[in-house]
Amino acid sequence: QELQLNLDQIEKGGFDHFMLKEIHEQPDAIVDTYRGRLLPDQDIIKMGSVDNNITKFLNSKRIVIVACGTSWHAGLVGEYLFEDLARIPVEVEYASEFRYRNPVINKDDIVIAISQSGETADTLAAIKLARSKGAFVFGICNVVGSSIARETDSGAYTHAGPEIGVASTKAFTTQITVLSLIALKLGHLKGEISISDYHNYIQEMSIIPSKVEELLKIDKEVEKIAAIYKDAPNCLYLGRGYNFPVALEGALKLKEISYIHAEGYPAAEMKHGPIALIDESMPVVVIATKKGHYEKVVSNIQEIKSRKGKIIAIVTKGDTQVKAIADHVIEIPDTLEPFTPLLTTIPLQLLSYYIAVMRGCNVDQPRNLAKSVTVE
Ligand code: G6P
Repeated sequence: QELQLNLDQIEKGGFDHFMLKEIHEQPDAIVDTYRGRLLPDQDIIKMGSVDNNITKFLNSKRIVIVACGTSWHAGLVGEYLFEDLARIPVEVEYASEFRYRNPVINKDDIVIAISQSGETADTLAAIKLARSKGAFVFGICNVVGSSIARETDSGAYTHAGPEIGVASTKAFTTQITVLSLIALKLGHLKGEISISDYHNYIQEMSIIPSKVEELLKIDKEVEKIAAIYKDAPNCLYLGRGYNFPVALEGALKLKEISYIHAEGYPAAEMKHGPIALIDESMPVVVIATKKGHYEKVVSNIQEIKSRKGKIIAIVTKGDTQVKAIADHVIEIPDTLEPFTPLLTTIPLQLLSYYIAVMRGCNVDQPRNLAKSVTVE
């Protein structure tokens, strides 16, 4: 019986699907991303491609991030990171809109293109357009030697290893890791972060992989929640601040692989529409970690509760307030606010994975989707 692993299973490292394998690879993938770059013993962030272009980065008046899909969500987290830590204004653009809009690009803008595959046609076209207008284009790609990696002026690889599952998981967290490193480095050099905060961020970043590892142990808990909501026709995801993009990504993950209609919203926008959808059959996933407008999110949760919505809350370990109201809580280890997306994303990946498996969906190759979209 021990020899019954066939080739396919060996490739999946004993996991049922590539997606689950890749979810579980995240602690190692994040280490691979920051290896040689994050030097916690010396309190240094070293990134050749940023160091070599440091004047451009420090003088940039604006960063424009272009991407598609999950990479676009990582870009949104990047917006919070760059604005919060380095005080550089950021715009995040769908590559497909950017390229067809005659965008205003100034010489001292930096364009950051994010792409797992490095082959997405719209992102590639956006890069070419930005470069033709004189912008410095920096790529964040996973696939080494890919078209986007070659077409950019400089860049940093995520080093997440091959991602086979169509729904992106480890690419997302490693893209956020690269963005965090750059934002911290620039924030430090610009004097926007105090020396002690910089030290704390570096130390905390170095233990994020162990926190992700710890978090992955809750997968049985998440599986039980998945069993309860697997037949829901709709699902709402809410988050604020750094965790608003995580809500979008959570919803995308669910629709991609389980075909359940899901929407992500900034929690405060609920009252401008989505609240009309809430009744006893609507599961609402709320990211309610202790950081980031916690009290406001708690009142959003109360509003859902009073309309009989079912609440699945992602909370910080030890939380009592949300626990008292929510139908289910998933605890994440405490961390510094800019790094919360690296943790809050994990249970959402697992939730969509288990729901999709229970619905009998083809998790690794969902219908109508492709890993790399090389057509416009
Ligand atoms: C496709 C994939 C998504 C991915 C998006 C952007 O839609 O299915 O998982 O996020 O393309 O891909 P990229 O390779 O540019 O990150």
